[in-house]
Amino acid sequence: MEVGLIIKTILLSVGILILYYIVSFFIYSRRVQSLFKGVKGPPKCHWLLGSFINFPAEGHERVQFFIDMCNNYGRDQGYVLLWGMFRKPTIVACSPRVMGTICKSNVPKAKGLVGVYRFMQPWLGDGLLVANGEKWARNRRLLTPAFHFEILRPYTNVYNQSADILVKKIMSKAEAGERFEVFQHVCLCTLEIILKCAFSYSKDVQHDGDTNPYVKAVNRITDSLTYRLLHPLCYFDIIWRICKVGRQFYTDCDFVHAVAEEIIDKRKESLLLEKSGNHDERRYIDFLDILLKAEDEDGHKLTRLEIRNEVDTFLFEGHDTTASAISWILYSLAETPDCQRKCQTEIDEILGDRDSDDLEWSDLSKLEYLTMCIKEGMRLHTPVPIMSRDTAEEFNIGDRVVPKGTLLQINVLAMNHMENVWGTDHMEFKPERFSKENIDQIEPFQYIPFSAGSRNCIGQNFAMNEEKVVLSKLLRNFNFRLDPNHEVKKNMSAVMRTKDGMFMFAEKR
Ligand code: HEM
Repeated sequence: MEVGLIIKTILLSVGILILYYIVSFFIYSRRVQSLFKGVKGPPKCHWLLGSFINFPAEGHERVQFFIDMCNNYGRDQGYVLLWGMFRKPTIVACSPRVMGTICKSNVPKAKGLVGVYRFMQPWLGDGLLVANGEKWARNRRLLTPAFHFEILRPYTNVYNQSADILVKKIMSKAEAGERFEVFQHVCLCTLEIILKCAFSYSKDVQHDGDTNPYVKAVNRITDSLTYRLLHPLCYFDIIWRICKVGRQFYTDCDFVHAVAEEIIDKRKESLLLEKSGNHDERRYIDFLDILLKAEDEDGHKLTRLEIRNEVDTFLFEGHDTTASAISWILYSLAETPDCQRKCQTEIDEILGDRDSDDLEWSDLSKLEYLTMCIKEGMRLHTPVPIMSRDTAEEFNIGDRVVPKGTLLQINVLAMNHMENVWGTDHMEFKPERFSKENIDQIEPFQYIPFSAGSRNCIGQNFAMNEEKVVLSKLLRNFNFRLDPNHEVKKNMSAVMRTKDGMFMFAEKR
C-alpha cells in the first residue's frame, strides 16, 4: 500500500474515533442532565470544565464558596449538584441524612481522574486510606489491634515528651516577646509524635526538622499533594510526571520508601533477636511491631510492601490532620480568652501540686471542658474538610437514583456550617454545643470530623489523646493571643491549613 494511503487511513480512523467520543460525550451529558432534573446547584457551568469555573482561586474564598453554596441550594434536599470536568456529576452531601446514607454504604473511594485518593497512591500504595473492597477489609481487621487502648496508653509519654520540646521552643519566643507561626511548630511536633509511635524514629525532629532529609521529604510530599489538588491540569498523570513539582514528588516518594524499608528490615532483625532472648530497650510497642506480627485467619502475614504502605498511611493521616486540629483549636482559644481561661483552670485543677506537668492516661477522661473545646474547634474549622466516593453502580439518595459514575462529595466543612443544622451562630466558637446537657441534640451523622461508618478514622482515639496532651501542655504554660496585625486566612486542601500562616504571641503564665 502507498504511504499516502496509509496516512490517509490513519487520519480517517483517528477522525472517526474523535467524532465518536464527541458524540458519545454529548449523548452521555444529555442523559445525565435529564437524570438530575430538578436537583439544585449553581447554574453557571462550563461545557468542559463544569462547575470548576465557579470556584474562587483563593483557598479561603473557596471555603466560603462551599458554605454559601450549600446554604443556598442544599437546605431542603440535603445535597447540591455540581458538575466536574468532562461533565462528571458530583453530589455534594451537606446534611446528616445524606451523610448517613453515604457513610453507611460501601461506595468505594474515588480514584478516577478527579479522585484525590489516586494522587496519594504513589506514596501510600494500597494502604488503608486508599484501598477498597476485600483488601481494605482484611487490612482493617489486621490493623485494628494497633489502636487498642492498651497499645495507646504508653503513647501518653511520647505525647508529653514531644509537647515539652514544643513548649521549650515557644518559651524562647515568649521570653523574647516575639510572635511565632503556630502551624509550622505544631506540625513538627505532631510529625515527631507519629514517627515515634509508628516506628520509634528517634531523631529530634522538632529541632533538626528544617535540615532532616526525611522530614523535609515528607513535608514536601504533603505540600505537593495540596499543589496537585489545586491545579486541575496536574490531575493528568502525564502532566504530573513531567512538571517540576510532580518530578520532585516521585523523587521524594522513592526516598521515604527507602528509609521506611530500611527501618522495617532492621526491626525484623531485632524481632528475631528478641525471639532468641535479646530484648531491645524500647518501653512501648509501636505500630511497626503490631504490623510485623499481624496475621490473618489463614496465617498469612502482611508483606513488606503492605507494611510500608500502612506505615506511610499512618504518617500521612496522623500528622497533618492533628496539626491542623491543634492549631485551629488554639486559634479559637486565643480568640476567646474566657474559654482559654476555663481550660487552664481545669488543667491546673487536674495537675494540682504534682511535681511534673505531664498528663497521665487517667487524666485524659477528666478534661471535660477541654474536650468540648476540641470538639467545637474541629466543627468550626474542620481539619479534614472533604472526602469523596465514586459510585461504581447505581445509588439511592432518598427516592432519587444516582447513576453509576457519580462522584459523591462528603462535604463535612459545609455541613458544619449549615444554618438549618447548627443554627445562625454556626460561625461562632461555642463549646457548650458539646456539653453533657446539649450533646443529645446532635443527630446521628451531624458531627463527623473523623468520618463515620466502616470507613471511619481508625486513629481517632490516638488523635483525641494527642490533642488533649499537647493542648494541655501549651495552655498550662502560656496565655495565647492572636497577632492583631495579621489576619489568619483558611486554605483548604486535603486538610484545613492557613494561607499565610497563623501568628500568635505567647505569654508565660
Ligand atoms: C484530628 C486528627 C484526625 C482527623 C480529623 C482524621 C480524620 C479522618 C477522616 C475524616 C478519615 C476518613 C477519610 C476518608 O474517608 O477519605 C480518616 C481515615 C483514616 N485515618 Fe484519620 N484523622 C485524624 C487522625 C488520624 C491519626 C492520628 C491516624 C493514625 C495514627 C489516622 C489514620 C487514619 C487511617 C489509617 C484512615 C483510613 C481508615 C480506613 O479507611 O479504614 N488518622 N481520618
